[in-house]
Amino acid sequence: MGAADDKEMSLVQARTACECCHDCALGKTRTNLVYGTGNANARLLFVGEAPGEREDATGIPFVGAAGQLLDRYLFAVDIPREDVYIANILKCRPPKNRDPLEDEVQACMKHLRTQVRILNPSIIVCLGRISAMRLIKPDFRITKEHGVWFHRGNFDMCAVYHPSALLRDPSKKEDMLEDMKQIAQKYHALKS
Ligand code: URA
Repeated sequence: MGAADDKEMSLVQARTACECCHDCALGKTRTNLVYGTGNANARLLFVGEAPGEREDATGIPFVGAAGQLLDRYLFAVDIPREDVYIANILKCRPPKNRDPLEDEVQACMKHLRTQVRILNPSIIVCLGRISAMRLIKPDFRITKEHGVWFHRGNFDMCAVYHPSALLRDPSKKEDMLEDMKQIAQKYHALKS
């Protein structure tokens, strides 16, 4: 069995452990756990905020309107979605898509830490402010610092606008495309 199979197996085991998690109240209201999806051997990890309605219904992150927009950016910069891994800070949907509560984040971060440890990606991209404030720095300012690279541990990290923010304010789409081009450049350089 190769290293990629080991990672796949570890992710399956970690997901199974996460299915049993009731460390916050969201485990009671969710329809499906939205653990994360993608390539166990991914060198690029995207981390969003929390599942929405469609994600809760399917158990797959970023499949609603925001996810479809993310797919278009991935396509535009030649990053196949199946090559990356996509996860969220919270694995269960907050009712009515409200912002994650502090105790929910505290309870859930261990699952993301496990995913990061198993995947050991080279690049982590935060989708939106909430993810960036948790993973990059608490005072992260998305309007000023989107597309800026930070080095944390072994990882190159940056944040881009959350695709939902682009749906609300299409004037941000130009910045998003530039940021995604930069990410793609770094990503494609890894493989060469
Ligand atoms: N928004 C997120 O932050 N994550 C999803 O999975 C879907 C929408």
